[in-house]
Amino acid sequence: MAVYILLISGCATQQVSYQDDVVPILESRCIKCHVSPDGVGYRATGLEMGSYESLMQGTAYGQVIVAGDSRRSMLNMLVEGRAGKQQRMPHYEDDALEPVQIETLRQWVNQGALDN
Ligand code: HEC
Repeated sequence: MAVYILLISGCATQQVSYQDDVVPILESRCIKCHVSPDGVGYRATGLEMGSYESLMQGTAYGQVIVAGDSRRSMLNMLVEGRAGKQQRMPHYEDDALEPVQIETLRQWVNQGALDN
């Protein structure tokens, strides 16, 4: 039974890698504002994306990722624009993420937001 489930999930979606898939998105589209001490996003919320640990720690007010549940993860809500256009990330004048990047972040969180 366990093998059966593994086979099904293996076929449905690919395993997303934090290092290979997620970090390049964060570095190209998020880090400039979410870096300490001067990033505007970091200054506003305390959310720093320079390491897996700091990302998972979230903002000064709490976590932005619920491992295994992208529907409830603030990070996914914001990049998907679910919290409204004003709140969308990346912020201000920057364009939204590409659909494939949004999907990568969604799958990574749904697969447990692993440090892999
Ligand atoms: C141009 C600057 C900028 C960029 C780029 C940026 N952010 Fe932000 N981010 C902010 C600011 C400023 C805030 C503070 C809240 C606000 O003003 O909406 C913030 C807040 C956040 C929060 C916390 C929201 C909350 O209410 O707790 C999350 C999560 C977040 N950003 C994720 C991201 C992600 C993921 C990316 C890349 C896809 C990104 N940000 C790119 C500026 C930015």
